[in-house]
Amino acid sequence: MRKNLGVKQLLYPQAVALIGSYDENNVPDIMVAAWISMADFDKVFISISKEHKSTQNILKTKAFTISMAIKKFVVNEDYLGIVSANDKVDKVKHSSFTTTKSEFVNAPLINELPLTIECELITYDTQNEFMYGKIINVTADEEILEENGRINLAKFKPIIYDPSNHKYYEFGEVVGSAFSDGKKLF
Ligand SMILES: Cc1cc2nc3c(=O)[nH]c(=O)nc-3n(C[C@H](O)[C@H](O)[C@H](O)COP(=O)(O)O)c2cc1C
Repeated sequence: MRKNLGVKQLLYPQAVALIGSYDENNVPDIMVAAWISMADFDKVFISISKEHKSTQNILKTKAFTISMAIKKFVVNEDYLGIVSANDKVDKVKHSSFTTTKSEFVNAPLINELPLTIECELITYDTQNEFMYGKIINVTADEEILEENGRINLAKFKPIIYDPSNHKYYEFGEVVGSAFSDGKKLF
């Protein structure tokens, strides 16, 4: 028997992305975004509230970064999703993360996190709070890469957000091969 749950945000799995930006005094800000996705081969989409300091920063600098949250820093990462730089300007310093300016865009990289997408702002729709960014570069720590430059998910384990229970989950095991397993039904 199926149950109707109404309008919910239960699109599984959801990413735990950390959006990095600089404020008007070049102080780094980082917030958590779960409502984020690829929008094209070189574009990303974020549903991001105009009330956030990060949004105001990005509208000024026209740039942001997206780093993937990992288990080791879950407390620090969640902190960045519940405290606003509108209330605590030095929230990033308090989180214990350290940052370095991206080589490609005017936004901070999080030194402790191994995978970051560096973006320029394309548009922000203030009515719907939809943001689109263009990917300018992706930077990855060598420790999570295979020799051929691909990401090794045995070494890099981004966490996943469960919006139904408000929990973070660890990345799991390989269960299939994309663009391939379905061919068994050809
Ligand atoms: C798990 C989680 C997911 C979140 N996802 C989003 C999101 O997709 N969009 C959004 O606007 N805010 C999201 N937030 C809320 C912001 O991260 C939060 O309001 C943050 O304090 C904003 O910081 P800022 O004002 O310094 O930019 C999320 C928070 C958490 C904990």
